[in-house]
Amino acid sequence: MNEEAITEVIRRRTSCRSYEKSPAPPEVRTQLADFCATQTRGPLGTQARFLLISATEEDRTALKGLGTYGFIRNPTAFILGAVKQGPYNLEDFGYLLETIVLQATALGLGTCWLGGSFTRSSFAHALALQTEELLPAVIATGLPAESPRLVDRLIRSGAGSDRRLPWERLFFNNDFNTPLTLTETGAYAEALELLRLGPSASNRQPWRVLKTAGAWHFFLHHNPNYRKQMKLVTAIDLQRVDIGIAMSHLALTATALRLRGAWQTQPFPAPPDPDTEYIISWVEQM
Ligand SMILES: Cc1cc2nc3c(=O)[nH]c(=O)nc-3n(C[C@H](O)[C@H](O)[C@H](O)COP(=O)(O)O)c2cc1C
Repeated sequence: MNEEAITEVIRRRTSCRSYEKSPAPPEVRTQLADFCATQTRGPLGTQARFLLISATEEDRTALKGLGTYGFIRNPTAFILGAVKQGPYNLEDFGYLLETIVLQATALGLGTCWLGGSFTRSSFAHALALQTEELLPAVIATGLPAESPRLVDRLIRSGAGSDRRLPWERLFFNNDFNTPLTLTETGAYAEALELLRLGPSASNRQPWRVLKTAGAWHFFLHHNPNYRKQMKLVTAIDLQRVDIGIAMSHLALTATALRLRGAWQTQPFPAPPDPDTEYIISWVEQM
């Protein structure tokens, strides 16, 4: 991906739920399919595989029964992906698939994340999903419709898509009682802002980031009611996928801005409450 443009690509991406009936030109599909094939290992070590498929009528109708929300009109393709069970597998999945979403956005395509119980769906069949693999989410994609439907705007406002949590609810300095101010953020201001614009399941934005000297600690703030609701639909914790998405926005932006760092498990300050769980840290490197 063109690293200089990544910040603009992240800003431009929003979920697209109405597509043109005609598929993307073959060269665009080939570029995206080739990019999917390169995303085989997450930053936390999970092996993964991703596949671009053309949408069939069966896929379109299947979506309704699979625990996704928000009707998608005329998706012409889907991006499918699989990971095995393992520590950080859902974070790695989110990271890699969001990287693909941003590539699709850079190629002029619309995208929408769809989380659901896909493990026994036509998608699983198309991907030849193995018994030890999970298919936690799929991406609907295609050429964005020129005029989105009224219902798209209703889904956006229903999911609160345009409402992002303010900085002081997401980013903290040394302890969870002290919000991080812009001046203390330094070179990472842009990376955190672009993390904040990331997509998340039902726009819950479960990411919390705590800064200590030279490290950015990522926590997952579970919404207990949401976790219960999701467990009814899918056994998969989509909020861990959301954390992977946030990690990708931070790391891709940092790389574009020439800020070096690596993902590590670190000793970390205690979480503020039992619903908040430490996941991983981005450790700055000189
Ligand atoms: C893991 C995950 C699952 C999602 N599932 C759905 C879904 O089933 N249906 C849908 O319409 N949108 C879904 N979304 C999209 C979110 O609603 C959307 O990202 C959020 O409202 C923010 O809006 P934006 O993507 O336009 O910035 C999902 C997003 C993520 C990250």
